[in-house]
Amino acid sequence: MIFIDACKRKETPYTPIWMMRQAGRYLEEYRETRKKAGNFLDLCHNVELATEVTLQPVEILNVDAAILFSDILVVPLEMGLPLEFVAGEGPQFQRTITNYQDVCNLKKDAFLKLDYVYDTISSVRAKLSKDKALIGFCGSPWTLATYMIEGEGSKTYAKSKKMLYENPQTMHYLLKQITDELKGYLIRQIEAGANAVMVFDSWASALEQEAYFEFSWGYMKDIAKYIKMHYPEIPVILFPKGIAGYLKHIDGNFDVFGVDWGTPMEFAKQHLGGKYVLQGNLEPSRLYNEDFMEMGVDEIIGIMGKKAGHIFNLGHGMLPDLPRENVIKLVEMVHKKTKR
Ligand code: CP3
Repeated sequence: MIFIDACKRKETPYTPIWMMRQAGRYLEEYRETRKKAGNFLDLCHNVELATEVTLQPVEILNVDAAILFSDILVVPLEMGLPLEFVAGEGPQFQRTITNYQDVCNLKKDAFLKLDYVYDTISSVRAKLSKDKALIGFCGSPWTLATYMIEGEGSKTYAKSKKMLYENPQTMHYLLKQITDELKGYLIRQIEAGANAVMVFDSWASALEQEAYFEFSWGYMKDIAKYIKMHYPEIPVILFPKGIAGYLKHIDGNFDVFGVDWGTPMEFAKQHLGGKYVLQGNLEPSRLYNEDFMEMGVDEIIGIMGKKAGHIFNLGHGMLPDLPRENVIKLVEMVHKKTKR
């Protein structure tokens, strides 16, 4: 698999590409399957239809990897927090974590209730072509904790930060519980057939440097170490979004560092490119305009070169209204321009 070789810094015939949120609303095929399923969570729970939407971007775009179709929030859901995806507004938890007792009340061994995810992985792996990789994933403990405390997406993370500074032990206790679940969750994803795993730390940028390393990166590293201990051959990808300023302190036992669009690729290469394969980082909005898209591709390839050490991706998730023809062109363009 070209994608897996690239994660291990082996030479490949071209630079592989996949895109965060490659399955989604910009594809009419996705919108149709979601309608058949009912709502978004029903789609996550439906093995047959989740398999279908996982495979759609591989077939339509010819990307080098599929990513499991699910959501990072199914873990808190199974830890006992009822979840709804409100159309146009995003995820909302009906109950939130406000104190130590709430953390004690969370259900243990949530990862044992996520068979629908493992079944989707096995079903995708059985249908996916052998040269394409399947990526499993989870949210980072910190990013999941913010959703569990705020109850929804937030601009300020005020409640989460209040808990962190007022009561750091409670925050650590929550993060530790989530981390234990995620270790079991990723191991089972691998055992079901995932060829690589990725941890999304979407709200990394909410934290100042010292707090970031203590309350987020430390747990990400712990998860990566655990996976590498059990499955050393499975690539681990870590994606902390929005922490360009902290790159020189990044370390740990993992394979690929996901670079967001706010971090100049040259800067990431300088600090981390020697130690980790870099994945990223085209600004997704460039796909609205083919010329800007191509200039962005040329710039990234110009920096990362055609040698091993780079996986092409967007610098964050695909937007729901990106023109699909440009997404298809992007994959062709990257394959063609990086041919060895
Ligand atoms: O990348 C993929 O194609 C795989 C599937 C995937 C989804 N969510 C599907 C989804 C993955 C890897 C995620 C991760 C995820 N989910 C993250 C981390 C990545 C990131 O974007 O930072 C986060 C923060 C979430 C939480 C989440 N899920 C939000 C905030 C939303 C609402 C925003 C939106 O785009 O509507 C979701 C819903 C969601 N997850 C959708 C998809 C395809 C859209 C649901 C729909 O309307 O069909």
